[in-house]
Amino acid sequence: MQGELIPAFPGNHNMANYEEARANFKWEDVEKEFSWYTTGKVNIAYEAVDRNVLEKGLGDKVALYYSDPARNEAVTYRQMMERSNQFANVLKKYGINKGERVFIFMPRSPELYASFLGIVKKGCIAGPLFEAFMENAVKDRLGDAEAVAIVTTPALRNRIPKDQLPHLKHIFMVGVPEEGLGEGEIDWHAEMAEASTEFDIEWVDREDPMLLLYTSGSTGKPKGVLHVHNGMIQHYQTGKWILDLKEDDIYWCTADPGWVTGISYGVWAPYLNGVSSVVRGGRFKPADWYQTIQDNKVTVWYSAPTAFRMLMAAGDDLVKEHDLSSLRHVLSVGEPLNAEVVRWGMKVYERRIHDNWWMTETGGQIISNYPSMAIKPGSMGKPFPGIDAAIIDDNGNVLPPLQMGNLAVRKGWPSMMRKIWKNEPKYNEYFKIEGWYVSGDSAYMDEDGYFWFQGRIDDVINTSGERVGPFEVESKLVEHPAVGEAGVIGKPDPVRGEIIKAFISLREGYTWSEELQAEIVAFVKTGLAAHAAPREIEVRDKLPKTRSGKIMRRVLKAWELGLPTGDLSTMED
Ligand code: WT7
Repeated sequence: MQGELIPAFPGNHNMANYEEARANFKWEDVEKEFSWYTTGKVNIAYEAVDRNVLEKGLGDKVALYYSDPARNEAVTYRQMMERSNQFANVLKKYGINKGERVFIFMPRSPELYASFLGIVKKGCIAGPLFEAFMENAVKDRLGDAEAVAIVTTPALRNRIPKDQLPHLKHIFMVGVPEEGLGEGEIDWHAEMAEASTEFDIEWVDREDPMLLLYTSGSTGKPKGVLHVHNGMIQHYQTGKWILDLKEDDIYWCTADPGWVTGISYGVWAPYLNGVSSVVRGGRFKPADWYQTIQDNKVTVWYSAPTAFRMLMAAGDDLVKEHDLSSLRHVLSVGEPLNAEVVRWGMKVYERRIHDNWWMTETGGQIISNYPSMAIKPGSMGKPFPGIDAAIIDDNGNVLPPLQMGNLAVRKGWPSMMRKIWKNEPKYNEYFKIEGWYVSGDSAYMDEDGYFWFQGRIDDVINTSGERVGPFEVESKLVEHPAVGEAGVIGKPDPVRGEIIKAFISLREGYTWSEELQAEIVAFVKTGLAAHAAPREIEVRDKLPKTRSGKIMRRVLKAWELGLPTGDLSTMED
């Protein structure tokens, strides 16, 4: 399908010509766009919010159009500045200092965004968590980060095991629980009402940490990916050239701030570019999403393949029932965007869906399709100007076009992660080939310079765009009294990309039944997260293992797909 080409739509795109941009672009030139370039005072939250009010006259412009089935609210840039100042003052009052970790664990709301920006203004490290996390997942992350405070809601408080988190001192509660506040719990609204709307921003170094995001690998617990203020250079410029943001845009990023997309492109990119941003809370519903576009007159829409596939399944008629004519630019990230979905987008939205590739670890977009460039459906596009991405072999040799290998990025782009929290060996693993960041994805580049995703090299599962580490799920499964051993793989699925499939062996005295299956699924759901629970479980007498006792997931996968199992020389008898 490599030959299929969808030409660029005519229009006044911020990046007029990719080749030209690539030839002339320098990251240093972007630095001049920021206040700190002249003042020397750095804080990403100042550049994203306060500066729009204080230097650009955008105080009355709407920063956030928030809606969910129960609420509808617009927050201007001035209000966002004042509310984030208030929360920064609250943190100050409780003695929370620069560099300390403050987590956020709540559904999307205006309060979440004000808290997040306040944390960053105070120079703290923000740790956003997805609201679906259950107790174990919350405990692992807060414990590893030694978080001192968390912002949450009464509905989620029981998932924060205070007694097991010795560093956690303050729980800012958005909404007061019926039973009243417990020890260490603080009424968010009451504190905000008392706090000054003025705050002396904590000026930081560009290399100071700002964000800690946990993500899954194939082994061990989730790892804390640390990002610094300097990432703003990339968030701003990719917002300009990839999201193609312009002054009057109404931009909607559908991602939750518990994932990197919901921060880099749900907060920083739109605010650094001074546009109005839409946030829709509540659950995914196709009609609801189209209504959100129609009501807000969304012009730029950034979503994910799973969502597009579910919208496709919801049918073309639903599209016709809504007015989506405001849409100018549509983008997708998180997993492979099927060529089929791109063709469907052309048919029903009459728009191209622009795929792009990046990761939690890269902090910002790396490879993309640009509005001024012809698209090859199924391809992720080309490296951003100023970024050198390539396909390399295991020795670091750059491979010629059409050869599959490691998708790698030349070290040193502005939003690159700076650390894995308290785990230097893990960090170094990404950079084990001199000069390169090795992504863990395999891909090839075609003769025209377009990149094509082939798969993960490790066993990490991508289900509905969410990264799930098989080890975490296996560990949870074997905690269940009926489960002896567990091996977890991603099984191809037409809508979710992959679903989680578990192979287990039962302990003595247990027999398999539908009830037991439901119980085990619920066990993972409540212990870890709903999206981490296996959709399929298959019971085997024995699981394939190496002689050192490692479950051989590739053998399970081969069984599942009916493929040859390959080299079994390391397998136990
Ligand atoms: C992994 C990163 C950063 C966005 C959210 C995901 C997969 C991401 C694509 C794409 C095929 C993709 C990769 C990558 N992925 N974008 N356009 N085509 N696969 O961030 O949770 O850190 O996951 O998602 O496998 O390594 P993440």
